[in-house]
Amino acid sequence: MKRKIAILGSTGSIGTQAISVCMGHPDLLQIELLTANTNTALLIEQARACMPNSVVIADESKYQEVSDALSPLDIKVFTGIKSICDIVGGDNIDMVLTAMVGFSGLEPTVAAIRAGKAIALANKETLVAAGQIVMAMAKKYGAPIIPVDSEHSAIFQCLQGERATVEKIILTASGGPFFRKSVKELESVTIADALNHPNWKMGEKVTVDSASMMNKGLEMIEARWLFNIVPENIEIIVHPQSIIHSMVQFSDGSVTAQMSTPDMRLPIQYALTYPFRADLDTKRVDFAKLARFEFHSPDHEKFPCIGMAYEAIKKGGNIPCAMNAANEIAVEAFLNGKIQFVSIPKIIENVMIGTEFVAEPTLEDIYKTNDQARALATTLINKHTSR
Ligand SMILES: NC(=O)c1ccc[n+]([C@@H]2O[C@H](COP(=O)([O-])OP(=O)(O)OC[C@H]3O[C@@H](n4cnc5c(N)ncnc54)[C@H](OP(=O)(O)O)[C@@H]3O)[C@@H](O)[C@H]2O)c1
Repeated sequence: MKRKIAILGSTGSIGTQAISVCMGHPDLLQIELLTANTNTALLIEQARACMPNSVVIADESKYQEVSDALSPLDIKVFTGIKSICDIVGGDNIDMVLTAMVGFSGLEPTVAAIRAGKAIALANKETLVAAGQIVMAMAKKYGAPIIPVDSEHSAIFQCLQGERATVEKIILTASGGPFFRKSVKELESVTIADALNHPNWKMGEKVTVDSASMMNKGLEMIEARWLFNIVPENIEIIVHPQSIIHSMVQFSDGSVTAQMSTPDMRLPIQYALTYPFRADLDTKRVDFAKLARFEFHSPDHEKFPCIGMAYEAIKKGGNIPCAMNAANEIAVEAFLNGKIQFVSIPKIIENVMIGTEFVAEPTLEDIYKTNDQARALATTLINKHTSR
């Protein structure tokens, strides 16, 4: 039986690699749905190559173009986020890969969970903003959540067949492009510098998150919910070689690691084919040629976003959602040349301080917090730029 896959965000970094994984295993995986926000050219090309049942272009102004281009083919074309939410619940879909970027991933993920679909989760922002609610829903509707993020996939792989008590999760980080820069040097880094990741080729938002190490903060919160572990037992370690993708320490002191050369197709494929491990042509680790494995504690002065993420999850409630929203707006402003790289944590900190605390947020509270935190971050950025 082939597994029928919906790829949300098919035109992005994860989405395009997911298509290549599916095309590499036509006996196991069948693409049923592709979605994009605005990139019509790539979505049309992907639809012609994959022949899914449906495509959705989220931006309604682009619908006609996609519909006209695909009209000779037997592919249904829809538009709007609501269409994505409706289609992911359909009988023809077994698993939903959430590879949209940012808070926009929450609504379709929730829709897929409500329909009891298996989730291959790349969109970490969903769990950062609403982890407690989303995990409770997944339990209620019997929707398994399989991680795609390489670190969480590593942890998930380390836990297969294990019954032992987990003492600690060791989340590895490459350190990003600024690992060896000083605090002073960070004041003058450019957009191009921030987008120049040493080990991974990813979408712009997650690449800037890696440069500020907010990505590791977001991943720590993601791990907290995925593996039901308290933040105090999640340790972040910088491992610049990106060969160990994360580790699990058990109550007997034994540590299990998952290793491979950095290639996102591996965790994507593992999630899509889980519980099976299929063949993949990744570059193999050549241990004899690896000069060394390095491990460093993260520099909290240089990368204050990590501490903010720990603070946000410890406060709990709607604060991680506010932090995530502020980060999205600050990263966008940085990429648009409106603020300096070092202003990103300052905006986030001020939004966290300015957010009204809700201890037990509902999904509606999460949407409200997201809107308010975005508005506050935008105000702070506008004030900053008009100075
Ligand atoms: N890239 C990686 O290696 C990596 C690794 C681990 C985790 N992740 C996580 O995976 C997610 C995707 O990352 P990415 O790097 O693949 O991002 P990306 O390259 O920027 O792609 C994002 C995808 O989402 C679509 N999209 C953006 N905004 C949307 C909206 N409002 N409504 C509907 N669709 C929207 C985009 O469509 P258009 O192309 O039309 O804009 C695109 O298909 C993120 O949460 C990221 O943190 C990524």
